[in-house]
Amino acid sequence: MAEPVNCEQPEGELVIRTIAMPADTNFNGDIFGGWLISQMDLGGIVAARAISKSRATTVAIDGMKFRRPVKVGDTICCYAKLVKVGNTSMTFKIMAWANESGITDRKCVTEALFTYVAIDEKGMPIPVYR
Ligand SMILES: CC(C)(COP(=O)(O)OP(=O)(O)OC[C@H]1O[C@@H](n2cnc3c(N)ncnc32)[C@H](O)[C@@H]1OP(=O)(O)O)[C@@H](O)C(=O)NCCC(=O)NCCS
Repeated sequence: MAEPVNCEQPEGELVIRTIAMPADTNFNGDIFGGWLISQMDLGGIVAARAISKSRATTVAIDGMKFRRPVKVGDTICCYAKLVKVGNTSMTFKIMAWANESGITDRKCVTEALFTYVAIDEKGMPIPVYR
């Protein structure tokens, strides 16, 4: 499987754009990593559904690295780039970028490989391209 390689430029399609809120903080006062993962996952689902034209579910998250903290009020942008399509699975490189209060230069916060499976109404895998 391909590895996330660099975080120099956003890659792929913008799939989520939101603002980090006080309710999303951890005990250090920074944004909770789980919140960021959920935003990236939601963005990946958006991208996976658009490709498979079906429901999709997350089967794996690989190679996640948190590079810097996210602060309350930062604008968060998630980008998804399709890197592999199998029979029922789709793997995206998903990157999260943040800019302070929405005004500074954006910086890469984290990236990882998210794999989704196209599923039917019973939750069973179906081919991505049918
Ligand atoms: C995703 C799910 C439907 C797959 O069902 P399954 O019976 O395990 O299906 P398979 O073993 O045939 O795998 C389906 C595809 O996923 C891929 N896959 C499975 N595990 C993987 C992993 N750890 N990493 C990457 N790909 C994986 C398989 O290679 C296969 O891809 P392909 O068809 O393109 O070759 C099932 O495991 C499931 O429902 N998991 C829970 C999903 C979920 O609830 N996600 C939200 C997190 S709370």
